Amino acid sequence: MIDFKKFEKYSRPGPRYTSYPTAPEFNESFTENDLISYYKNQDSSRALSLYIHIPFCRSACYFCGCNVIFTSKEDKKVRYLDYLQKELNIIKKHLDVNREITQMHFGGGTPTFLEANQLEMVLEMIKETFPNFSKSAEISCEVDPRFFNQEHMNVLKKHGCNRLSFGVQDLNEDVQKVIHRIQPYETTQNVMQIARNAGIKSINIDLIYGLPLQTKESFHQTIEKIIKLNPDRLAVFNYAHVPWMKKTMRKFDESTFSPPSEKLEILQDTISFFTQNGYKMVGMDHFAKPEDELFKAIEKGELHRNFQGYTTKGGADLIGIGVTSIGDGVDYYAQNFKDLKTYEDAIDQGKLPVFKGYKLNLDDQIRQFVIMELMSNFSLNIPRVENKFGIVFNDYFKDDLKNLDEFVEAELLKIDKDKIQVLNTGTMLIRNIVMPFDAYLKKQPENKRKFSKTI
Ligand SMILES: C[S@@+](CC[C@H](N)C(=O)[O-])C[C@H]1O[C@@H](n2cnc3c(N)ncnc32)[C@H](O)[C@@H]1O
Ligand code: SF4
Repeated sequence: MIDFKKFEKYSRPGPRYTSYPTAPEFNESFTENDLISYYKNQDSSRALSLYIHIPFCRSACYFCGCNVIFTSKEDKKVRYLDYLQKELNIIKKHLDVNREITQMHFGGGTPTFLEANQLEMVLEMIKETFPNFSKSAEISCEVDPRFFNQEHMNVLKKHGCNRLSFGVQDLNEDVQKVIHRIQPYETTQNVMQIARNAGIKSINIDLIYGLPLQTKESFHQTIEKIIKLNPDRLAVFNYAHVPWMKKTMRKFDESTFSPPSEKLEILQDTISFFTQNGYKMVGMDHFAKPEDELFKAIEKGELHRNFQGYTTKGGADLIGIGVTSIGDGVDYYAQNFKDLKTYEDAIDQGKLPVFKGYKLNLDDQIRQFVIMELMSNFSLNIPRVENKFGIVFNDYFKDDLKNLDEFVEAELLKIDKDKIQVLNTGTMLIRNIVMPFDAYLKKQPENKRKFSKTI
């Protein structure tokens, strides 16, 4: 039995590293011209991955940290589709759209809050803009089970969708009430059935631990019921509480949150439950069946981390489409405007609606590689970093490595000549373990850090 109390000291604000440098480093000195020149100069033999953001939701889940617009107005959705088409027309002018597409992901908000025929319009405009979809392209969509029907499924299937991700979060009725998301188990069961009947082979379910009123026992009951649905993958996110950024989170009574030691117990219970039931842990918050590509990717050392979590498809340049979406290439990040008005204004002027971004220097790229490797594979092959970047690892990271000593002493990490290996309990503290490699975090005093807590 691990004494989790001793790890409470690691409950500190820290990034989730869906990017490095992290989003607070993105800045407005990155302009549309920068993005155009990245698009023009990109190696066109590299594949493309598309992310399309559909921001709308009907009502607020109070825990939600996503970029969302709450509406029930039909004309808002119609108008948005019009702007997506215009944005695609602008992208077409600057980017070689004949490059192979290996991945396309619809995120939100709630893409299926669009009517099925609207979703079809988006799919058609994307395919018209990007004609070269790979036969094995991974096409996925985030789905709120409360807004999903057979018509949505038919449209997605017709356009080659092969992965769905259903948001569930928690099945306990009291928790559902307090998070303002009532979603009966039967609703999730029904949509799973629709997806399975349509032949979707990869279905993910999102859960969150650390929500108000959750306990180890109540969350265990949730995962017991979830496993009966037989998902292929699970994402079990640590609730990111950032009430200074998201007003609805202020509705929670913080005294109803589990203390960090209980959160670690919940996580440990979740890990042992899913691993005992045939799933493998993938990165810090995912689980997959051994036959799932995500797991196979770990064995091949090909797991990558990006804005959508973990993926098997690295080596592609990501194009963000829609309000607030983020794209990236080998050495840049670019984010679209976050509010509809400025997004539309830019498009009306015939511009790519890029709001800010980041150009990575060599040091950023080295640190990005190290952080993402550890976040994905829980180990780092030191000679690989040295060969890739022409550095002597121990010299380059001399000061940062000193900050890992405490993790080595706590038996969370092992470092030898050729390898850094995160040990079992250390995987639960991976955000803390990679933080010493973050050059920007050091520059900020801890009380100024605007990140959620690592535990
Ligand atoms: C865009 S939503 C998924 C699709 C759909 N909107 C839904 O809720 O079913 C993305 C996922 O992010 C996760 N999420 C949202 N806010 C979060 C937070 N503050 N902390 C941790 N995970 C969060 C939830 O698990 C959610 O399912
Ligand atoms: S969790 Fe999903 S449905 Fe709920 S507000 Fe966020 S994006 Fe919308």
